[in-house]
Amino acid sequence: MKAVLCKAFGPARNLVLEDIPAPEPKKNEILLDVHAAGVNFPDTLIIEGKYQFKPPFPFSPGGEASGVVAAVGEKVSHLKVGDRVMALTGWGSFAEQIAVAVYNVLPIPQAMDFTTAAAFSMTYGTSMHALRQRANLQPGETLLVLGASGGVGLAAVEIGKAMGARVIAAASSADKLEVARNAGADELINYSESSLKDELKRLTNGNGVDVIYDPVGGDLFDQAIRAIAWNGRLLVVGFASGRIPELPANLALLKGASVVGVFWGSFAQRQPQDNAANFQQLFKWYSEGKLKPLVSKVYPLEQAGEAIDSLGQRKAVGKVVIGIR
Ligand SMILES: NC(=O)c1ccc[n+]([C@@H]2O[C@H](COP(=O)([O-])OP(=O)(O)OC[C@H]3O[C@@H](n4cnc5c(N)ncnc54)[C@H](OP(=O)(O)O)[C@@H]3O)[C@@H](O)[C@H]2O)c1
Repeated sequence: MKAVLCKAFGPARNLVLEDIPAPEPKKNEILLDVHAAGVNFPDTLIIEGKYQFKPPFPFSPGGEASGVVAAVGEKVSHLKVGDRVMALTGWGSFAEQIAVAVYNVLPIPQAMDFTTAAAFSMTYGTSMHALRQRANLQPGETLLVLGASGGVGLAAVEIGKAMGARVIAAASSADKLEVARNAGADELINYSESSLKDELKRLTNGNGVDVIYDPVGGDLFDQAIRAIAWNGRLLVVGFASGRIPELPANLALLKGASVVGVFWGSFAQRQPQDNAANFQQLFKWYSEGKLKPLVSKVYPLEQAGEAIDSLGQRKAVGKVVIGIR
C-alpha cells in the first residue's frame, strides 16, 4: 500500500510517497481502508519534531481519517467489515490503510460523505469540548473566536452559534472573515487592520467578551485577555502564531477571569462517555443543517506536503483534506 512518509524531521517537501506493507490490526484494532484524511495544524508540527508526540521513523503524518473497515481484530465486536467510519489516529492517516484502536473509531452518520467525515472529528471534537466542558458557554454570552476561518476556529463559530452565543469572529483578512460570516458569525474583526482590544471593547459597550477561544496565541492572546469580561473564560487551544504567551496573573484577578486549558485528545481518552455525548450532539446539529463543515480544497496523496504547507503558510481556510480513494 502507498503511504506518505516522514523519514527525518524537516519541512513538508522532504516527505516521500512509498509502497510499504499493509498494517495488521491487533486484538482491539480495526484495519481501515482510508478514503480521505483531514489535515490539521499538528501535521505541520509533527513532521518538524515540534509536536508533543514524536513517533518513531519512518511515520506517516495525518491525525484523522475516514473510510471503510477492511478487517477487525479478534476482540472487536461492535464494528464489522464494510462499516463506514471516521477515526482519530494522531498520525499515520496519509496512507491507503491504517490500523486504529476501536476506541478512536466512530460510525459515520448516513448523510455524511467521506470527505466531510475526514474533516470532522478533530476540529468539531476540539471546539465542542472547549465550549461545552471547558467554558460552559451559555446562550446569550459573547464568544470571541480568534483564527476564526481556520479548522478549529470555524468549527467554534458554528458551535458557538448552535449554543446560542453572540459570536465575534476575528481573522487576518477580509476574505477569511467572509468565510466566518458565512458560518454564522455576528460580528467581524480584521486584526491585521485594527486593534483587537479596542474593537472588542467597542462591540461589547466596554464590558468585554465572556468567552475567548484562542487557537493562535502570541500577540492576539495578549490583546484579547485585556478585553475579557467579568467572570470571563479564556480557552487556551493552541499557538498557531508560534509564540506561547505568558500571562500577568493580575489580569485574571482583576476580572475574576479563568484561563482554561483545552486538550481534546486527552479528554477523549479520559472521558470517552462525555466525548461520545458531544459527538451525538454534533451529529444531531449536522443532520439539522446547523453545522456545515467547509472543505476548501482536496489534495491527492502525492501532494500531501503541499496540503500541510497551506496550513503552515496561513493560506488554508476551513479544512483541507487528502483524497485517497
Ligand atoms: N487543544 C487541542 O485539543 C487542539 C486540537 C486541535 C488543534 N489544536 C491547535 O489549534 C491550532 C489551530 O489548528 P487548526 O488545525 O485549526 O489550524 P489552521 O486551520 O491552520 O488554523 C490556524 C489559524 O491560525 C491563524 N494564524 C495566526 N498566525 C498564524 C501562523 N503564523 N501560521 C498559521 N496560522 C496562523 C490563522 O488565521 P488568521 O490568518 O486569520 O490569523 C489560521 O486560520 C493549532 O495550534 C493546533 O495545534 C489544538
